[in-house]
Amino acid sequence: MTWRGRRARRVANLAAASAAAIGIGLAGLMPLALPASVAVAEVRPPLSPLPAPPALDPARVRLGEALFHDPILSSRQALACSTCHDLSRGGTIRRDRSVGYDGRVHEFNVPTLFNVANNYRMGWRGQLTSLADKTDQVLTAPNLMANDWETLLPRLRRSQAYRARFSAAYGRPPDRETVLDALVTFQRSLATPNAPFDRFLKGDVGAITPQQQVGYDLFRSYGCASCHQGSNIGGNMSQIFGVFGGGDGPRPNAVRPPRTNAPAASLADAEDERHVYRVPSLRNVAFTAPFFHDGRTDSLSEAVDIMGRSQLGRMLSETDIAAITAFLESLTGEYDGKPLVAAPVEDRR
Ligand code: HEC
Ligand code: HEC
Repeated sequence: MTWRGRRARRVANLAAASAAAIGIGLAGLMPLALPASVAVAEVRPPLSPLPAPPALDPARVRLGEALFHDPILSSRQALACSTCHDLSRGGTIRRDRSVGYDGRVHEFNVPTLFNVANNYRMGWRGQLTSLADKTDQVLTAPNLMANDWETLLPRLRRSQAYRARFSAAYGRPPDRETVLDALVTFQRSLATPNAPFDRFLKGDVGAITPQQQVGYDLFRSYGCASCHQGSNIGGNMSQIFGVFGGGDGPRPNAVRPPRTNAPAASLADAEDERHVYRVPSLRNVAFTAPFFHDGRTDSLSEAVDIMGRSQLGRMLSETDIAAITAFLESLTGEYDGKPLVAAPVEDRR
């Protein structure tokens, strides 16, 4: 990348980080600053129920599903999307970081693809906002599927079955646009509705336990919800991992300026873009271990503890960690009308 390109990217990241930092300030202040009546009527709650997926063309969904499970998409036909995004196991695999072509360990943990269409930012760096672009990137990344369109398209066109299915779904042979569209359409169908927390938000107060309700209150009052927000409970902004040290830096144990200076401090720190990550969605998080971009822990309660220290500068008590963890467990929905299934801990394929 050229100097100009690097600089443009850095400026874009800084802008994203500062907007996000200001966002935290606003989210934290708004309910206090507004009269109660206004707050109730006009301030959108930071967390909202999962919307129903849009109506999708069934032929395109099924074609995308076939491609998703077919190793034909990878360069030497050895890896399918589902090899890493195992839909029978929470939409991911239980290993710290993924292994792509040639057995090389990737720098990142595999994110779940459940509710992926509901993320605004894609990937651990959160640099892309289009699901089609991210899918294209994964297909061609040398350390993931390592393919290229010049290889893939003739291969798909040689297959009589795919030719027929593309012609039925799109009225033309497979090309880059239709392959990406089929994969994106299938990914849009990967919604997991009906989590206990969604039922609770829609008025069924008994859908979550009293401990989970305490955890939900703590999640808001501690400020977790200022980053993990919206209907995906995350997925819509990038942030520094380690605002208060720990995490991934930038300067562990550095003395932080008072909170009011946080945006400036964050901006300075954000200059080192290596520490900026997409705030992940917490939907189904009880089933997507190990956690964080590097899969550093298998334990959800440890992840909550790390977040308290690195993002909020607080040591959370064991009782609070247990309540927040219980709340996170209420975010597990259903896929295809069935509860999700997690990979056992010892299964580290
Ligand atoms: C070798 C393992 C592997 C395979 C195979 C694989 N992925 Fe991924 N996928 C990953 C990893 C690792 C990431 C995180 C990459 C990043 O953050 O940039 C990821 C990220 C993604 C994301 C971004 C998700 C989000 O929430 O940001 C999408 C979308 C995605 N993959 C779709 C696919 C599709 C579609 C296929 C098949 C065409 C596929 N992946 C095949 C490992 C894999
Ligand atoms: C300042 C923003 C911010 C705040 C506040 C915050 N988080 Fe996070 N959270 C992040 C980021 C960024 C990541 C991804 C870090 C990484 O892996 O690089 C993350 C990751 C996580 C993960 C791991 C998810 C996964 O799939 O790997 C959990 C669990 C989590 N946060 C829970 C919480 C809880 C609970 C709180 C409150 C105690 C909280 N977070 C507060 C930004 C935040």
